[in-house]
Amino acid sequence: MPALVLLGAQWGDEGKGKATDLLGGSVDYVVRYQGGNNAGHTVVVGDQKYALHLLPSGILSPGCTPVIGNGVVVDPSVLLSELSGLNERGVDTSKLLISGNAHIITPYNVTVDKVTERFLGKRKIGTTGRGIGPTYADKINRVGIRVQDLYDESILTQKVEAALDAKNQILTKLYNRRAIAADQVVEELLGYAEKIKPYVADTVLILNQALEDDKVVLFEGGQGTLLDIDHGTYPFVTSSNPTAGGACTGAGVGPTKISRVIGILKAYTTRVGSGPFPTELFDEDGEALRRIGGERGVTTGRDRRCGWFDAVIARYATRVNGLTDFFLTKLDVLTGWEEIPVCVAYEIDGKRVEELPYSQSDFHHAKPVYEMLPGWSEDISKAKSFSDLPKNAQAYVKALEEMSGAPISAIGVGPGRDETIEINSFL
Ligand code: IMP
Repeated sequence: MPALVLLGAQWGDEGKGKATDLLGGSVDYVVRYQGGNNAGHTVVVGDQKYALHLLPSGILSPGCTPVIGNGVVVDPSVLLSELSGLNERGVDTSKLLISGNAHIITPYNVTVDKVTERFLGKRKIGTTGRGIGPTYADKINRVGIRVQDLYDESILTQKVEAALDAKNQILTKLYNRRAIAADQVVEELLGYAEKIKPYVADTVLILNQALEDDKVVLFEGGQGTLLDIDHGTYPFVTSSNPTAGGACTGAGVGPTKISRVIGILKAYTTRVGSGPFPTELFDEDGEALRRIGGERGVTTGRDRRCGWFDAVIARYATRVNGLTDFFLTKLDVLTGWEEIPVCVAYEIDGKRVEELPYSQSDFHHAKPVYEMLPGWSEDISKAKSFSDLPKNAQAYVKALEEMSGAPISAIGVGPGRDETIEINSFL
């Protein structure tokens, strides 16, 4: 019962789409377990480039069943447009399964996300504005709308009315916005119901049966470890658990079933939105990483903040996720630097600190302590094995591995599907 979790080891955008897609050919199910269309995967297949937000990237691999688990929040309009976009390009999406227990991102959740951010002004989280936080808030407050509610008009109406009772008070009285009419929301949601119905299934049962039948199941995290609501840089986080434990709750699979946890680790660091980022660069090196790495959000189009590799964060990701392996991505982006700084520890109020501090004030004051590693200038995009890499690139990878606490089992040397060096097989 090989069940693998694949997740971001930093602040998201580590190139998970490529890694999932690489495995997609040999896995039977690819499952998203949290987040929604705040995620963004770019997958390159041949000369085709696909940008996915909500759908699991396994949707591009024939033979693989893509699953949207109960822990995901689903914007039905985004789901349907992503599906029809793929269908127009000849991708068969008929195998998709969506949990009836997944929560729906309603139009009012999107409105609340946007007005709340505006209201916060300088203190904003920098959300993607897709309604993610408010939808999870409704779930926890027990006023959420689930996919299964779309198939009972009376229950749907009652639930939407109950949710809007409180929200309209806030929208009109606090934010000075117009109230949202419950009947319009219900009508819109019912308009999606029949189109989504063929995909709705008891995904928990299906996935557990698949594991019993020795199928390969891959759980694909959105965002990244440092954006986790519990283990990330709270409050500058997303509203779900991208960390490994989230795969269990977000898909209904017990922890004893998980055999491998792979952390996707970019060879440098990026972050979108607000919040602390010790190795962030504000100089031409940061600009170069952004330009060479194409560091612009797939979902929001925002420029990503860029900085050097941070081994303190990688070690933390190893710990909170129980990582068994790393997939190091975008090593090619670092080609051309004479020396590459790597953050090995922090200096906080004059003291050297080796591990991520739990105190947010300490983390906000953390200054990176750098070790300089020699760079390389050779093109590495054609490298097929570790020994094809220039000596200094090999040494860079080995140093990162030692500092990060888990073996680096694959290395991305270019955006294409085949531009990957596999060191240890994931299966
Ligand atoms: P939200 O998920 O839209 O609520 O945004 C919360 C924080 O998570 C913001 O800083 C976003 O920029 C960040 N975020 C959300 N999704 C992603 C992602 O897929 N990659 C990187 N950052 C993300």
